[in-house]
Amino acid sequence: MKDRIDQLLTEIEAIKSISLEEVEQLRLKYLSKKGLIPALFDDFKNLPATEKREVGQLLNELKNNAQKKIDELKSHFELRDEVSAARLDLTRPAGNVEPGTRHPLSIIRNRIIDIFGRIGYTVADGPEIEDDWHNFSALNFTADHPARDMQDTFFIATNPEIVLRTHTSSVQIRVMESVPPPIRMIFPGRVFRNEAISARAHCMFHQVEGLYIDKNVSFADLKQTLMYFAKEMFGEQTKIRLRPSYFPFTEPSGEMDVSCNICGGAGCNICKYSGWVEILGCGMVDPAALDNCGIDSKTYTGFAFGMGIERITMLKYQIKDLRLFFENDVRFLKQFTGAF
Ligand code: DAH
Repeated sequence: MKDRIDQLLTEIEAIKSISLEEVEQLRLKYLSKKGLIPALFDDFKNLPATEKREVGQLLNELKNNAQKKIDELKSHFELRDEVSAARLDLTRPAGNVEPGTRHPLSIIRNRIIDIFGRIGYTVADGPEIEDDWHNFSALNFTADHPARDMQDTFFIATNPEIVLRTHTSSVQIRVMESVPPPIRMIFPGRVFRNEAISARAHCMFHQVEGLYIDKNVSFADLKQTLMYFAKEMFGEQTKIRLRPSYFPFTEPSGEMDVSCNICGGAGCNICKYSGWVEILGCGMVDPAALDNCGIDSKTYTGFAFGMGIERITMLKYQIKDLRLFFENDVRFLKQFTGAF
Protein backbone atom coordinates (compact mmCIF):
# COMPACT_ATOMS: atom_id res chain seq x y z
CA MET A 1 0.00 0.00 0.00
CA LYS A 2 2.91 2.30 0.73
CA ASP A 3 4.14 1.78 -2.82
CA ARG A 4 0.76 2.70 -4.17
CA ILE A 5 0.70 5.92 -2.11
CA ASP A 6 4.21 6.84 -3.27
CA GLN A 7 3.24 6.22 -6.85
CA LEU A 8 0.23 8.54 -6.59
CA LEU A 9 2.30 11.24 -4.83
CA THR A 10 4.82 11.29 -7.69
CA GLU A 11 2.08 11.19 -10.28
CA ILE A 12 0.27 14.20 -8.80
CA GLU A 13 3.49 16.10 -8.30
CA ALA A 14 4.29 15.75 -12.00
CA ILE A 15 1.05 17.30 -13.28
CA LYS A 16 1.72 20.48 -15.26
CA SER A 17 -0.53 23.33 -16.31
CA ILE A 18 -3.71 21.97 -17.91
CA SER A 19 -7.14 23.15 -18.98
CA LEU A 20 -9.93 23.89 -16.52
CA GLU A 21 -11.89 20.79 -17.58
CA GLU A 22 -8.87 18.63 -17.01
CA VAL A 23 -8.48 20.01 -13.49
CA GLU A 24 -12.04 18.93 -12.76
CA GLN A 25 -11.32 15.46 -14.17
CA LEU A 26 -8.29 15.21 -11.94
CA ARG A 27 -10.38 16.13 -8.92
CA LEU A 28 -12.87 13.40 -9.82
CA LYS A 29 -10.11 10.88 -10.42
CA TYR A 30 -8.27 11.45 -7.17
CA LEU A 31 -10.51 13.09 -4.61
CA SER A 32 -14.18 12.46 -5.36
CA LYS A 33 -16.04 9.88 -3.28
CA LYS A 34 -15.28 7.16 -5.82
CA GLY A 35 -11.79 8.48 -6.49
CA LEU A 36 -8.47 6.77 -5.95
CA ILE A 37 -7.59 8.40 -2.66
CA PRO A 38 -10.88 7.70 -0.83
CA ALA A 39 -10.48 4.08 -2.09
CA LEU A 40 -7.15 3.92 -0.35
CA PHE A 41 -8.76 5.19 2.84
CA ASP A 42 -11.19 2.26 2.57
CA ASP A 43 -8.32 -0.19 2.23
CA PHE A 44 -6.63 1.54 5.17
CA LYS A 45 -9.37 0.33 7.52
CA ASN A 46 -8.31 -3.26 6.89
CA LEU A 47 -4.64 -2.78 7.70
CA PRO A 48 -3.17 -4.41 10.79
CA ALA A 49 -2.96 -1.94 13.71
CA THR A 50 0.87 -1.97 13.63
CA GLU A 51 0.96 -0.41 10.17
CA LYS A 52 -1.83 2.07 10.63
CA ARG A 53 0.20 4.84 12.17
CA GLU A 54 2.81 5.12 9.42
CA VAL A 55 0.49 4.53 6.49
CA GLY A 56 -2.10 6.90 7.99
CA GLN A 57 0.41 9.73 7.92
CA LEU A 58 1.40 9.01 4.33
CA LEU A 59 -2.19 8.82 3.27
CA ASN A 60 -3.03 12.18 4.81
CA GLU A 61 -0.01 13.70 3.11
CA LEU A 62 -1.19 12.33 -0.21
CA LYS A 63 -4.68 13.72 0.26
CA ASN A 64 -3.38 17.17 1.25
CA ASN A 65 -0.92 17.29 -1.63
CA ALA A 66 -3.61 16.35 -4.12
CA GLN A 67 -5.97 19.03 -2.77
CA LYS A 68 -3.20 21.63 -2.83
CA LYS A 69 -2.22 20.79 -6.39
CA ILE A 70 -5.81 21.05 -7.61
CA ASP A 71 -6.38 24.35 -5.80
CA GLU A 72 -3.17 25.70 -7.28
CA LEU A 73 -4.07 24.68 -10.83
CA LYS A 74 -7.53 26.21 -10.43
CA SER A 75 -6.23 29.50 -9.03
CA HIS A 76 -4.38 30.18 -12.30
CA PHE A 77 -7.67 30.16 -14.12
CA GLU A 78 -9.35 32.36 -11.54
CA LEU A 79 -6.55 34.95 -11.84
CA ARG A 80 -6.84 34.87 -15.60
CA ASP A 81 -10.60 35.43 -15.35
CA GLU A 82 -10.07 38.44 -13.09
CA VAL A 83 -7.53 39.94 -15.45
CA SER A 84 -9.80 39.63 -18.46
CA ALA A 85 -12.83 40.88 -16.53
CA ALA A 86 -10.90 44.01 -15.55
CA ARG A 87 -9.53 44.30 -19.11
CA LEU A 88 -6.01 44.49 -17.75
CA ASP A 89 -3.32 44.15 -20.34
CA LEU A 90 -0.36 42.76 -18.50
CA THR A 91 1.86 43.03 -21.55
CA ARG A 92 1.48 46.80 -21.76
CA PRO A 93 4.68 48.76 -20.98
CA ALA A 94 4.60 50.64 -17.66
CA GLY A 95 3.92 54.41 -17.62
CA ASN A 96 6.80 56.86 -17.65
CA VAL A 97 8.30 57.87 -14.34
CA GLU A 98 8.40 61.65 -14.54
CA PRO A 99 11.44 63.32 -13.03
CA GLY A 100 10.61 66.13 -10.58
CA THR A 101 10.97 69.79 -11.54
CA ARG A 102 12.33 72.61 -9.46
CA HIS A 103 9.94 75.05 -7.88
CA PRO A 104 9.86 78.28 -9.95
CA LEU A 105 10.96 80.29 -6.90
CA SER A 106 14.00 78.01 -6.51
CA ILE A 107 14.85 78.39 -10.20
CA ILE A 108 14.81 82.19 -9.94
CA ARG A 109 16.60 82.24 -6.57
CA ASN A 110 19.37 80.06 -7.99
CA ARG A 111 19.60 82.30 -11.04
CA ILE A 112 19.98 85.37 -8.82
CA ILE A 113 22.71 83.60 -6.82
CA ASP A 114 24.46 82.69 -10.07
CA ILE A 115 24.26 86.22 -11.52
CA PHE A 116 25.78 87.80 -8.41
CA GLY A 117 28.21 84.91 -7.97
CA ARG A 118 29.78 85.86 -11.29
CA ILE A 119 30.77 89.27 -9.89
CA GLY A 120 32.16 87.92 -6.64
CA TYR A 121 29.16 87.80 -4.28
CA THR A 122 29.01 84.90 -1.85
CA VAL A 123 25.87 83.62 -0.11
CA ALA A 124 24.98 83.67 3.60
CA ASP A 125 21.82 83.15 5.63
CA GLY A 126 20.52 84.20 9.02
CA PRO A 127 17.75 83.04 11.35
CA GLU A 128 14.06 83.37 10.42
CA ILE A 129 13.21 83.98 14.07
CA GLU A 130 14.98 87.23 14.83
CA ASP A 131 15.38 89.70 17.67
CA ASP A 132 14.24 93.30 17.55
CA TRP A 133 17.82 94.56 17.32
CA HIS A 134 18.69 92.73 14.07
CA ASN A 135 15.30 93.14 12.41
CA PHE A 136 14.69 96.80 13.42
CA SER A 137 16.84 98.74 15.88
CA ALA A 138 20.26 98.23 14.34
CA LEU A 139 18.72 99.10 10.97
CA ASN A 140 17.81 102.50 12.35
CA PHE A 141 14.07 101.91 12.73
CA THR A 142 12.97 104.25 15.50
CA ALA A 143 10.86 102.87 18.35
CA ASP A 144 7.69 104.31 16.85
CA HIS A 145 8.36 103.30 13.23
CA PRO A 146 5.15 102.03 11.56
CA ALA A 147 6.88 98.86 10.26
CA ARG A 148 7.04 97.59 13.84
CA ASP A 149 3.27 97.81 14.04
CA MET A 150 1.34 94.68 14.94
CA GLN A 151 -0.23 94.75 11.48
CA ASP A 152 3.05 94.08 9.74
CA THR A 153 5.11 92.05 12.15
CA PHE A 154 4.55 88.63 13.67
CA PHE A 155 5.69 88.87 17.28
CA ILE A 156 6.36 85.85 19.45
CA ALA A 157 3.51 85.92 21.99
CA THR A 158 5.66 85.42 25.06
CA ASN A 159 8.35 87.94 24.12
CA PRO A 160 7.74 91.05 21.97
CA GLU A 161 11.51 91.39 21.51
CA ILE A 162 11.43 88.28 19.27
CA VAL A 163 9.86 88.47 15.81
CA LEU A 164 9.61 86.48 12.59
CA ARG A 165 11.94 88.49 10.38
CA THR A 166 10.02 90.90 8.17
CA HIS A 167 12.88 91.25 5.69
CA THR A 168 16.29 89.77 4.94
CA SER A 169 17.92 93.13 5.83
CA SER A 170 18.36 91.59 9.29
CA VAL A 171 21.10 89.38 7.82
CA GLN A 172 23.03 92.53 6.81
CA ILE A 173 23.35 93.39 10.49
CA ARG A 174 24.43 89.88 11.52
CA VAL A 175 27.08 89.83 8.79
CA MET A 176 28.38 93.35 9.45
CA GLU A 177 28.66 92.48 13.16
CA SER A 178 30.78 89.43 12.47
CA VAL A 179 32.62 89.83 9.14
CA PRO A 180 35.29 92.50 8.73
CA PRO A 181 35.05 94.51 5.46
CA PRO A 182 35.37 94.19 2.54
CA ILE A 183 31.99 92.41 2.39
CA ARG A 184 30.35 91.33 -0.86
CA MET A 185 27.45 89.03 -0.14
CA ILE A 186 23.84 88.18 -0.87
CA PHE A 187 21.31 86.73 1.56
CA PRO A 188 18.37 84.80 0.14
CA GLY A 189 15.64 83.69 2.54
CA ARG A 190 12.05 83.55 3.75
CA VAL A 191 10.38 86.53 5.38
CA PHE A 192 7.06 86.94 7.17
CA ARG A 193 4.48 89.70 7.39
CA ASN A 194 1.07 89.85 8.92
CA GLU A 195 -0.83 90.37 5.66
CA ALA A 196 -4.14 89.00 4.44
CA ILE A 197 -3.47 86.41 1.74
CA SER A 198 -4.50 87.50 -1.76
CA ALA A 199 -3.27 87.34 -5.36
CA ARG A 200 -0.78 90.12 -4.57
CA ALA A 201 0.16 89.58 -0.91
CA HIS A 202 1.11 86.69 1.34
CA CYS A 203 2.14 86.29 4.96
CA MET A 204 5.28 84.40 3.90
CA PHE A 205 7.46 85.21 0.92
CA HIS A 206 11.09 85.28 -0.21
CA GLN A 207 13.68 88.00 -0.58
CA VAL A 208 17.29 88.32 -1.64
CA GLU A 209 19.32 91.00 0.11
CA GLY A 210 22.62 92.27 -1.23
CA LEU A 211 25.41 94.02 0.66
CA TYR A 212 28.69 95.54 -0.48
CA ILE A 213 30.96 97.28 2.02
CA ASP A 214 34.45 98.56 1.24
CA LYS A 215 36.48 101.75 1.06
CA ASN A 216 35.26 104.25 -1.55
CA VAL A 217 32.06 102.45 -2.56
CA SER A 218 29.81 104.95 -4.34
CA PHE A 219 26.27 105.22 -5.65
CA ALA A 220 27.71 104.78 -9.16
CA ASP A 221 28.90 101.29 -8.11
CA LEU A 222 25.41 100.50 -6.87
CA LYS A 223 23.81 101.67 -10.10
CA GLN A 224 26.23 99.70 -12.26
CA THR A 225 25.77 96.53 -10.19
CA LEU A 226 21.98 96.75 -10.43
CA MET A 227 22.08 97.46 -14.16
CA TYR A 228 24.26 94.37 -14.66
CA PHE A 229 21.77 92.33 -12.64
CA ALA A 230 18.72 93.62 -14.54
CA LYS A 231 20.25 92.85 -17.93
CA GLU A 232 21.39 89.37 -16.88
CA MET A 233 17.98 88.56 -15.43
CA PHE A 234 15.63 90.13 -17.97
CA GLY A 235 17.77 90.46 -21.11
CA GLU A 236 20.33 92.82 -22.66
CA GLN A 237 17.65 95.26 -23.92
CA THR A 238 16.43 95.94 -20.35
CA LYS A 239 16.57 99.54 -19.07
CA ILE A 240 16.60 100.57 -15.42
CA ARG A 241 15.18 103.59 -13.65
CA LEU A 242 16.08 104.67 -10.10
CA ARG A 243 13.55 106.70 -8.13
CA PRO A 244 14.29 108.40 -4.79
CA SER A 245 12.71 106.63 -1.83
CA TYR A 246 13.11 106.21 1.91
CA PHE A 247 14.39 103.32 4.05
CA PRO A 248 15.67 103.91 7.60
CA PHE A 249 18.92 102.01 6.98
CA THR A 250 20.02 103.60 3.69
CA GLU A 251 20.82 107.20 2.80
CA PRO A 252 20.19 108.10 0.05
CA SER A 253 17.58 105.41 -0.71
CA GLY A 254 16.04 104.42 -3.99
CA GLU A 255 13.65 102.06 -5.68
CA MET A 256 14.54 100.49 -8.99
CA ASP A 257 12.20 99.87 -11.90
CA VAL A 258 13.04 97.79 -14.96
CA SER A 259 11.51 98.34 -18.38
CA CYS A 260 8.60 95.92 -18.68
CA ASN A 261 9.92 92.68 -20.15
CA ILE A 262 6.44 91.70 -21.35
CA CYS A 263 5.60 94.68 -23.59
CA GLY A 264 9.13 96.06 -23.93
CA GLY A 265 7.99 99.37 -22.45
CA ALA A 266 5.01 99.96 -24.76
CA GLY A 267 2.49 99.42 -21.92
CA CYS A 268 0.50 96.35 -20.89
CA ASN A 269 -1.55 95.15 -17.93
CA ILE A 270 1.51 93.70 -16.17
CA CYS A 271 3.20 97.13 -15.98
CA LYS A 272 -0.19 98.84 -15.63
CA TYR A 273 0.47 100.65 -18.91
CA SER A 274 3.45 102.55 -17.49
CA GLY A 275 6.18 100.57 -19.28
CA TRP A 276 8.05 100.12 -15.96
CA VAL A 277 7.89 97.60 -13.10
CA GLU A 278 9.42 98.07 -9.67
CA ILE A 279 11.68 95.21 -8.59
CA LEU A 280 13.78 96.33 -5.63
CA GLY A 281 14.71 98.80 -2.92
CA CYS A 282 18.29 99.98 -2.48
CA GLY A 283 20.58 102.67 -1.19
CA MET A 284 23.89 103.59 0.42
CA VAL A 285 24.14 101.96 3.86
CA ASP A 286 23.37 104.65 6.45
CA PRO A 287 26.51 105.51 8.49
CA ALA A 288 24.46 104.91 11.65
CA ALA A 289 23.84 101.27 10.58
CA LEU A 290 27.58 100.75 9.96
CA ASP A 291 28.45 102.21 13.37
CA ASN A 292 25.77 100.06 15.04
CA CYS A 293 27.69 97.02 13.80
CA GLY A 294 31.15 98.24 14.76
CA ILE A 295 32.23 99.22 11.23
CA ASP A 296 33.90 102.63 11.11
CA SER A 297 31.68 104.77 8.88
CA LYS A 298 34.51 107.27 8.33
CA THR A 299 36.62 104.59 6.65
CA TYR A 300 34.00 102.45 4.97
CA THR A 301 30.98 103.05 2.81
CA GLY A 302 28.67 100.55 1.16
CA PHE A 303 25.43 99.85 -0.58
CA ALA A 304 22.57 97.46 0.02
CA PHE A 305 19.59 96.28 -1.97
CA GLY A 306 16.66 93.99 -1.38
CA MET A 307 14.33 92.31 -3.85
CA GLY A 308 11.31 89.99 -3.67
CA ILE A 309 11.85 86.63 -5.39
CA GLU A 310 8.11 86.16 -5.99
CA ARG A 311 7.87 89.45 -7.82
CA ILE A 312 10.75 88.66 -10.16
CA THR A 313 9.43 85.14 -10.76
CA MET A 314 5.98 86.53 -11.58
CA LEU A 315 7.50 88.90 -14.11
CA LYS A 316 9.71 86.23 -15.67
CA TYR A 317 6.93 83.68 -16.07
CA GLN A 318 3.90 86.01 -16.26
CA ILE A 319 2.28 84.52 -13.18
CA LYS A 320 -0.55 86.71 -11.93
CA ASP A 321 -1.47 85.10 -8.62
CA LEU A 322 1.03 84.77 -5.76
CA ARG A 323 -0.97 81.99 -4.11
CA LEU A 324 -0.03 79.56 -6.91
CA PHE A 325 3.51 79.42 -5.51
CA PHE A 326 2.36 77.93 -2.24
CA GLU A 327 -0.47 75.61 -3.25
CA ASN A 328 1.93 73.06 -4.75
CA ASP A 329 -0.46 71.91 -7.45
CA VAL A 330 1.68 69.65 -9.67
CA ARG A 331 -0.13 70.90 -12.79
CA PHE A 332 1.36 74.31 -12.01
CA LEU A 333 4.75 73.11 -10.79
CA LYS A 334 5.57 70.78 -13.67
CA GLN A 335 5.47 73.62 -16.19
CA PHE A 336 8.79 74.96 -14.95
CA THR A 337 12.02 73.55 -16.14
CA GLY A 338 15.34 75.25 -15.98
CA ALA A 339 19.03 74.55 -15.91
CA PHE A 340 19.17 75.41 -12.22
N1 DAH B 1 14.12 95.58 3.43
C1 DAH B 1 13.35 96.31 2.44
C2 DAH B 1 11.95 95.70 2.37
O1 DAH B 1 11.76 94.62 2.81
C3 DAH B 1 13.99 96.20 1.09
C4 DAH B 1 15.27 96.95 1.02
C5 DAH B 1 15.27 98.28 0.70
C6 DAH B 1 16.47 96.33 1.29
C7 DAH B 1 16.44 99.00 0.62
C8 DAH B 1 17.66 97.05 1.21
C9 DAH B 1 17.62 98.39 0.86
O2 DAH B 1 18.84 96.50 1.45
O3 DAH B 1 18.80 99.09 0.78
O4 DAH B 1 11.08 96.34 1.88
